[in-house]
Amino acid sequence: MGSLTVRNLPEAVKKRLRLRAAANGRSMEEEVRLLLAEKSGDAPAAARPESPVSMISAWMSRPEDAPVAARTDNRAKPARQSAEPPPAATARRILLIISGGIAAYKSLDLIRRLRERAYTVRVVMTRAAQEFVTSLSVGAIAGEKPFTELFDQASEFDVGHIRLARDTDLIVVAPAAADLMAKMAHGHANDLATAVLLATDRPILLAPAMNPRMWSNSATQRNLKILLADGVLTVGPNAGEMAESGEVGTGRMAEPLDIVAAVEKRLAGATADAPPSRARPLAGKHIIITAGPTHEPIDPVRYIANRSSGKQGFAIARAAADAGAKVTLISGPVALPDPSGVKIVRVQTAQAMLVAVQAALPADVGIFAAAVADWRIAGDIVQKLKKDAGGPPKLELVENPDILATVSRLKTKRPALVIGFAAETEKVIEHAKAKLKRKGSDWIVANDVSAEGGAMGGDDNTVHLITAAGVESWPAQSKDGVARQLVARIANALNGEPS
Ligand code: C5P
Repeated sequence: MGSLTVRNLPEAVKKRLRLRAAANGRSMEEEVRLLLAEKSGDAPAAARPESPVSMISAWMSRPEDAPVAARTDNRAKPARQSAEPPPAATARRILLIISGGIAAYKSLDLIRRLRERAYTVRVVMTRAAQEFVTSLSVGAIAGEKPFTELFDQASEFDVGHIRLARDTDLIVVAPAAADLMAKMAHGHANDLATAVLLATDRPILLAPAMNPRMWSNSATQRNLKILLADGVLTVGPNAGEMAESGEVGTGRMAEPLDIVAAVEKRLAGATADAPPSRARPLAGKHIIITAGPTHEPIDPVRYIANRSSGKQGFAIARAAADAGAKVTLISGPVALPDPSGVKIVRVQTAQAMLVAVQAALPADVGIFAAAVADWRIAGDIVQKLKKDAGGPPKLELVENPDILATVSRLKTKRPALVIGFAAETEKVIEHAKAKLKRKGSDWIVANDVSAEGGAMGGDDNTVHLITAAGVESWPAQSKDGVARQLVARIANALNGEPS
C-alpha cells in the first residue's frame, strides 16, 4: 500500500515527503508507513481524512511536519516562514557513472534511494552500461536524460564533460567494472565516463562489481591499489552468489543502501559552499623534485646540455601535488609551463640546482629526475671564445656535484625516501642496480633512453622500479601514467602499507 500511496500523492507533497524521509534516513515508503501508523490514532474519526492519500497530504502540510532537509537545503526552495537566515545548503549533488555489468540494474534502485534523500542525481552511462539497462529507464528514474556521449554536440555545448566533472559534490561509479577501473588507474579518457573521471577534482566513490576471478586478478588488484593511493574511495564488493550460475565469491556490487550510506558518510559536513575535495594521500608531505637538463656554460653564449625535456619530472610534480603534497620542483632550462599548485625554482647549472635543493630541505621525499650534466668547464670564461685564436679551444672539464648522492648521504635532513633516475642505453636493469648502491638512494627508476626506447623528449616511458626488494617492470605508458604510479607507490611506502 505504501508505494501505491506515494505514487498517488500530489507532486508538492511528494517532494516534502522525500525531504522528510531523507532527513530521517528512511525511504519514502517507510516514512509513509510510519506516518500512517503514528498518526492514524491521533485525530477523532470524524475529523480524519478518508483516504491514506489525503491523510498524508493533510499531515504533510502542517508546519511541524515540514521536513528538516527542506528547511536546510535552499536548493529545494522551501517556503521560508521566518526571517532567520537559512543554514548553509548541504552538498547533495551526485554524478552517478554507470558502467557495464549485470549489477547495473541495481543502479536504478540506487538513483531512487538517492533522490528520496533529496540528492540531485545526474547520470553518465558507458556504452556497455546501455547493454544492461536502457537510458530511457535511467532517465525516467533520475528525472533527467542520462549523458552518454563524449562528442555529443547538444550536451557538450549545454553541459560539457568538464562541467559534468565539476558541478557535483561527489562522483559515484556503480557498478565500477574491471575495465573502467583499469582505465581510471592509467588515466585513459576515451569516452565520456573516463573523461569526466580524469577531469574531476571531486571525490570519487567506486562500487566495484565483477566476476570474483576478475576481482582477485592481480591486474585488478594492482589497479585498485593505484586508485586507493589516488584517494579514490570504495564500497564493496561483497561476497556471495554471482549472476553466473554456480559462481560464488567476492565481486557482488554493494547494496544500494550501503552505497547511499557511504555517500552520506563522505559528504557529512560538506556544504554547497565548501564542497568536499579529493582525499589526499600525500597531504602534509613535502616532496622535492629535480627535472630537466642543466646548462653548463662554455663561455657567455655557448653551453653543454643534453636532450632531457623535463616532462617526466614535471609530470611527477603534478601527480604529487594532486595527491596533496607540498611540492618544490627545481628545474633546469625547459620549455614547460609552471605546474599549478607547485613551487618552482628555475636554475641553469648543476651547482645552482644543488644549492636550490639544499635550500628546499627538509623534505619527506626527494625525487631526482633531472639529467644533470656530469661535467662543467673549469674556471670562468668571461669573454666569448674566438674561432680565429689559434685553432679549437682546449676545454678543461671538472666534475659536477652529484646531487642525488649528496642528498642520499646526508646525516641530518636526509629525506625518508630518496629516489633517483637512471637513464641507460643498454643493460638497463644491471646498470640501475649498480647505481642504487653507488648513489645510496632507496629506489631507482630506470628507463631506456636508447633511440628505440624513445623516452628522451617523448611523452611515453617504460620504466623499471629498483628497490631493495627487487625489480618491478612497469608497462609502457604515458609519463603522466608513470608519475601517478610512482606517486601511488610513494604514498603506500610513506603510509607504511605494503607496496
Ligand atoms: O650518474 P647518473 O647521471 O646516471 O645518475 C642519474 C641519477 O643521478 C638521476 O637521478 C640524476 O638526477 C642524478 N644525478 C644528480 N646529480 C648529478 C648527476 C646525476 O642528481 N650530477
